[in-house]
Amino acid sequence: MKKTILILAVTGTMVGLCAMPSCKKKDNAQPATMTLYDSLGGTEMVSDPSNSGQMIEKGRLGIRSVVDSTIFVIAADPELNVFFPTLLSEVTASNLSGFSALSKNLTDFFCVATGAKNFTYSGKSMVAAHDPAQNPRMNGKADAADFDKFVADLVVGAKKVGLSDQLIGRVGAIVNTTKSDVVQK
Ligand code: HEM
Repeated sequence: MKKTILILAVTGTMVGLCAMPSCKKKDNAQPATMTLYDSLGGTEMVSDPSNSGQMIEKGRLGIRSVVDSTIFVIAADPELNVFFPTLLSEVTASNLSGFSALSKNLTDFFCVATGAKNFTYSGKSMVAAHDPAQNPRMNGKADAADFDKFVADLVVGAKKVGLSDQLIGRVGAIVNTTKSDVVQK
């Protein structure tokens, strides 16, 4: 009998403790710091508007929307589209394989850079991707002005899909970390 009372008392104390605010806080704890990926939508699964019947992380969908929108802005920009002759001729011939590969690699790159956990970047290094000797799809080396134009086009592309100025600023900060690798002229 004494033993039963002791067990009940101990169990009761544990239940009581976990009803206290400090214990509850621990159970429902939010991640200490939200990553940029979280702010872009995070890991919540939503249906993929481009692939019927498939689900996609909301953060990845947001990033892919910005990437694809930006590729279209760059493709229409005479100062930058000269770097992409292979891609443009493929798309003109209705061959979207290069576009899909670029979209995937850029999306993976930004997912990883913004803190996503479920994706990896498997494309070329930033130096190799922007060195015509290592990437024949890159038509010439880019200089600082080209880089700034790229960032300006990214802002236009991001605004087109409704990204807030605050999030654009945070994505821009990531892009700027690649400048010394991309600018090779
Ligand atoms: C001066 C500005 C830039 C120019 C002219 C440029 C140009 C290019 C070109 C021509 C390609 C190959 C496209 C193709 O597959 O046909 C490429 C690939 C790529 N670029 Fe850039 N780029 C610039 C800036 C950036 C920046 C700032 C980033 C980083 C956010 C970036 C990330 C990438 C990635 C991830 C790839 C794909 C690499 C792969 O497929 O292995 N680029 N870029």
